[in-house]
Amino acid sequence: MPQSTLLSLQLSEQGFMVIIGLFGGGGQLGRALQRDLAPLGDVLAPTRQQLDLSNPAAVRQWLQQNRCDLLVNAAAMTQVDIAETSIGLATQLNQHVVQQLAEYAAQQQIWLVHFSTDYVFDGSGDTPWLETDECRPLQQYGRTKRAGELAIINSGCQHLLIRTSWLYDSQGQNFLLTMLRLAQQTPTSLSIVSDQIGAPTYAPELSAVVSAMLTQLLSTQLRTRQQQHATALSGIYHVCATGHCSWLEFATTIFAGANTKGLLDELPVLAAIKSDELARPAARPKNSRLSTSKVQATFNLQLTDWQHQLDLCLDTLKNSAKTGK
Ligand SMILES: NC(=O)c1ccc[n+]([C@@H]2O[C@H](COP(=O)([O-])OP(=O)(O)OC[C@H]3O[C@@H](n4cnc5c(N)ncnc54)[C@H](OP(=O)(O)O)[C@@H]3O)[C@@H](O)[C@H]2O)c1
Repeated sequence: MPQSTLLSLQLSEQGFMVIIGLFGGGGQLGRALQRDLAPLGDVLAPTRQQLDLSNPAAVRQWLQQNRCDLLVNAAAMTQVDIAETSIGLATQLNQHVVQQLAEYAAQQQIWLVHFSTDYVFDGSGDTPWLETDECRPLQQYGRTKRAGELAIINSGCQHLLIRTSWLYDSQGQNFLLTMLRLAQQTPTSLSIVSDQIGAPTYAPELSAVVSAMLTQLLSTQLRTRQQQHATALSGIYHVCATGHCSWLEFATTIFAGANTKGLLDELPVLAAIKSDELARPAARPKNSRLSTSKVQATFNLQLTDWQHQLDLCLDTLKNSAKTGK
């Protein structure tokens, strides 16, 4: 057996157990990952108070103290408009920390799971972007995320580099919750961008797919005892909901669903606007569609469509409204 991550995997009666270092465990995606990765092993998820990722010395110390078998990085500086002016912070979180984690993973021969974005593309055309397509980010956020991707690739570590799009959850800051909040205010007339298309992705659905990918990867390592079988899975994957819509179509479907489920009394009046009419600091790609063929074929997984994922999220919101949690 090679001196690799394989050595540190511990077979238990239930299967395999690994020590997983999860960063950004309090974010939209991180919360779901904390839950979904638990069956795979011990999940160590330091909060920002326990580990400030903008402090490289603290990150180094944490990595040395907690001998993880697998690193999962869901932390990022995700505020796209603020990143235009807070370039240093965006670079630290989206590039330098990622490089530090990747170099550690390469040195220890452990896997790194990391998340990136549709914003690495320039949004031209109207066909889904492939993993191999050229990246030409339009704004600082995308540039720092792309720099993080390159740091992983150049480190030589084994990685699942997962690009996703239009992420939302039943908690946190996202388009869906902003729409529901605005719709409850008066006057309920909203102007929504209609010339950007993408796939709104529900964080718990993405998390479930990632945990299925990791389960396959870890069991491949254990079953074959051959590092190269698992190593062949290393690479970039696009993982998001299937289908696509504009922000306006997403908003229309959110309001209709929320109204049907009793979360919203009155439907707001919606008007379509072009991206250019919204004076935002950062440019957004018009075409954010990501092709998910590679992940579906490689891991034999079927992804669900954005309407289904939205329905799940609205059900969660309805249950929270009922239980008050
Ligand atoms: N949101 C989207 O629409 C979208 C779209 C495509 C790709 N992505 C990518 O998907 C991943 C997950 O996104 P998300 O929406 O779940 O992000 P999120 O909700 O903004 O969560 C980011 C996490 O990073 C943590 N973090 C930020 N700065 C930190 C610091 N200095 N020290 C420690 N922790 C820090 C935050 O901690 P606190 O909890 O303390 O704030 C939070 O837990 C990211 O890589 C993002 O780039 C997101």
